[in-house]
Amino acid sequence: MIPVNEPLLDGNEKKYLLECIDTGWISSEGPFVKEFEEKFAARVGRRHGIAVCNGSAALEAALAAVGIGPGDEVIMPTFTIISCAAPVVRAGGWPVVVDSDPLTWTMDVSRIEERITSCTRAIMAVHIYGLPVDMDPVLDLARKYGLMVIEDAAEAHGLAYRDRPCGSFGDISTFSFYPNKHVTTGEGGMIVTDDDGLAEKCRSLRNLCFQAKKRFVHEELGFNFRMTNLQAALGLAQLEQLNIFAERKRLMGRRYTELLQGVSGLQLPLSETGYAENIYWVYGVVIDDAVPMDAEQAMRLLGERGIGTRPFFWPMHEQPVFRRMGLFAGEHHPVAERIARRGFYLPSGLALTDSQMDVVCHEVREIFS
Ligand SMILES: Cc1ncc(COP(=O)(O)O)c(C=O)c1O
Repeated sequence: MIPVNEPLLDGNEKKYLLECIDTGWISSEGPFVKEFEEKFAARVGRRHGIAVCNGSAALEAALAAVGIGPGDEVIMPTFTIISCAAPVVRAGGWPVVVDSDPLTWTMDVSRIEERITSCTRAIMAVHIYGLPVDMDPVLDLARKYGLMVIEDAAEAHGLAYRDRPCGSFGDISTFSFYPNKHVTTGEGGMIVTDDDGLAEKCRSLRNLCFQAKKRFVHEELGFNFRMTNLQAALGLAQLEQLNIFAERKRLMGRRYTELLQGVSGLQLPLSETGYAENIYWVYGVVIDDAVPMDAEQAMRLLGERGIGTRPFFWPMHEQPVFRRMGLFAGEHHPVAERIARRGFYLPSGLALTDSQMDVVCHEVREIFS
């Protein structure tokens, strides 16, 4: 089986992990956490980095820090992971979703303004599958209507929008370090911001809102979202290789495109837009409507041939859990509905070899011939 993802851990990972074990620093108090926070934040040009236990927790803490509460609306793409919408709903707010662009698969920014109301507090921009959201219009709208920008850069390590790193655009921005990310800590996440107040709030929220003087007396409710020194040790070693990893992913993406060129019935990812070069976090494909096979069938056939795949996101407005809550009644977002049903991604991990890619593309050609 060619796995859909396999990380590369061939730098200083083992050395730094052994250092944790030799020194006994394995908890969140260890020195790698601070070093990883500082170096990661610097890499995306931010003043503060707050390491947490995963990317979903990063979003949860970021939204709590921003103060999203009952009745607040947050505009976001419908085509994303539930980690974006869940904290808004849990806080008593409303995720207000917009459709995707059919070519980039990121949120269609031309649809944001029509969804702004007097209850809108923030726009959540989510970079998806290797291309960023077109950020300039998002930032213009945020300025025009006095909205916060929350940037979910979970998948966007090493990606740039108009030569500026993703993760540098939000009032608050978040990352994930799950093993399929370009920097992994096993499980992990990071919040980055330039705002001293938001940073302090996030540090407190991730650590149960313990107080400096009276530790176990709480003025506010927080979470235990701390990252361990072991995770940060991995992260630091991975970060040292981010430029190499990003370049490798770009080359892999281009190679996939070359090998799959001319397969009829398959939409391949854009290699670039006017504002960004694709970093191919994953190599997604969308099956044309004319092909009598959906993503589920294609993934099953590829699985039978030893090729690991993953489905695309399922839109937020079609999530049973939200529908049962009465959210998104009667809403349709045709692009997201279509790519959710007809899109999936091929093995995309950093450890994927050229010969494995050849096999993947051969099998894809076979099932689409
Ligand atoms: C866009 C996006 N946001 C958030 C997350 C959540 O990150 P985690 O899996 O670390 O909780 C992911 C995970 O892949 C993601 O793709």
